[in-house]
Amino acid sequence: MDFNNTENITIATHPLIRHKISLLRSKNTSTNTFRTLVSEIAMLMTFEALSDLPTELVEVETPLEVCKTPMITGRKLAIVPVLRAGLGMVDGMLKLLPSARVGHIGLYRDEETHEPHSYYCKLPNPIEERLIVITDPMLATGGSAEAAIDFVKQKGGKNIKFLCIIAAPEGLERLHKAHPDVQIYVGMLDRELNENAYILPGLGDAGDRIFGTK
Ligand code: PRP
Ligand code: URA
Repeated sequence: MDFNNTENITIATHPLIRHKISLLRSKNTSTNTFRTLVSEIAMLMTFEALSDLPTELVEVETPLEVCKTPMITGRKLAIVPVLRAGLGMVDGMLKLLPSARVGHIGLYRDEETHEPHSYYCKLPNPIEERLIVITDPMLATGGSAEAAIDFVKQKGGKNIKFLCIIAAPEGLERLHKAHPDVQIYVGMLDRELNENAYILPGLGDAGDRIFGTK
């Protein structure tokens, strides 16, 4: 699959995003720095992913005259991190979108089967009227992302974007085929999955590195 020429798939090209992802990969990056980088990358990716937000001309009085100037139309936004690792992206996104509501989807991958198991789902209402940005740093087999988007659609969500920092080709293809209407934004596309369904070269276990649990 030619991901660079597929509708609804965008792979970041900005040098700042790529540089920060390279720093994230290093096993020598501390928990503190890792968290900061995840947050900064999420902010930069949000900036790019929301470049199609609609605006309308609004009348504003400057100190010199009245003008018509563009502002984002009153679209309701929801950020929905996939727990745990998606949480690390939220504060960076809220810096750009301070009024956004935040939902949560709890999923963990079974270590043997790599299948996602759900344990929590709480989304802000009215979900059907919102632009929903689902976040998870890692798109490996794609099972978790597919399940998260299934949940959001079952609850009525229609206008969905998915943001991940690193994707494996296998997961990206699976997710796009399962949800072709969802706009997927990828920080960097990696080579492949290993036998334990970890991304290579990847960055290891994102949740453990953000929360310092291993
Ligand atoms: C990681 C990651 C994704 C999932 C990706 O979470 O944050 O949610 O794996 O893998 P997949 O594409 O093969 O489904 P994990 O299950 O390790 O849970 P955690 O964030 O709670 O550690
Ligand atoms: N989840 C992670 O955190 N890292 C991987 O490489 C794959 C799944």
